[in-house]
Amino acid sequence: MSTPTIAANDPCWCGSGRRYKRCHRIADVDPARAAADEARRAQLERDAELYVRPGRLSPPREVPAHIPRPAYALDKHGRPRERDTARPKDPETIELMRAAGRAAAEVLAVVGAAVRPGITTDDLDAIAHEETIKRGGYPSPLGYNGFPKSLCTSVNEVICHGIPDSTVLKDGDIVNCDVTIFLNGVHGDTNATFLVGDVDAETRRLVDVTRECLDLGIAAVRPGNRVRDIGRAIQTHAEANGFGVVRAFVGHGIGRSFHSDPQVFHYDNPAARGVLEPGMTFTIEPMITIGDWHHEMWDDGWTAVTVDRSRTAQFEHTLVVTDDGAEILTRV
Ligand code: MF3
Ligand code: CO
Ligand code: CO
Repeated sequence: MSTPTIAANDPCWCGSGRRYKRCHRIADVDPARAAADEARRAQLERDAELYVRPGRLSPPREVPAHIPRPAYALDKHGRPRERDTARPKDPETIELMRAAGRAAAEVLAVVGAAVRPGITTDDLDAIAHEETIKRGGYPSPLGYNGFPKSLCTSVNEVICHGIPDSTVLKDGDIVNCDVTIFLNGVHGDTNATFLVGDVDAETRRLVDVTRECLDLGIAAVRPGNRVRDIGRAIQTHAEANGFGVVRAFVGHGIGRSFHSDPQVFHYDNPAARGVLEPGMTFTIEPMITIGDWHHEMWDDGWTAVTVDRSRTAQFEHTLVVTDDGAEILTRV
């Protein structure tokens, strides 16, 4: 005879809200139901191991008072007010963006070098925060539309905008770190996906193809080409490799504003008719998936994950259109 640990009238352990006797006690006398039930419980346990879950946030990080902040950082909700246009920037602004871009690339390199099994995404945030401040910059994500941290960290099936927290990176994970710095009145925005220890071959292929997608997107940048050409180059390469292109998040104009026109789609969008001109500054930041490219949002309103929880990678550069191509601003 079995010894019940739950009384017949207690709420069932499965969370159904029904009484135990009306719910899973039935499984005690029905072997088929008991087996199905056990399989479900085991699957839930595996999922918890396999997929990313929200962790705990550390207390807010401070930015020293002498560091100039973007206007949105002073707004209660972090809302940006006026937005830059897609028009080409003047040479002085582009020179400032070279400095901000280089600083962002340096910060990203330091963050990336720290990625290893055992480190938390919050540890990476602390590094990004310190390295940004050390260079006289403000970490652009902090307070932007209420984003609570200085870096975006997107692990495995997280597409983008993951919030650094107590999540511990483990062997076999991948993590995208997205650094943006506000320096001398302009933003520099760059990200890369890093391998955590030993990563399986298919995931490594995803990361390699995603990096190639960014390179091919950049190669499509030259005066006279259309914004659409960038997305077409990216989509063609991703799909030739059997991967998907996330549609919901785009590259963007950047400069005195964190995000402005043009919207840089990473797939062939006929609506992207804008013609590239020397001096335009924008990001290209393809998000590529092994499986379904549709996304789902966590309750935090930021973390975007693939609907099928397949892995996804991203790389990003800020660039300026030159007379015959593109100059990457986010290079060390
Ligand atoms: N850096 C991201 C981008 O590439 C934007 C992050 S916004 C944040 O556009 F609020 F999530 F930080
Ligand atoms: Co960006
Ligand atoms: Co970014």
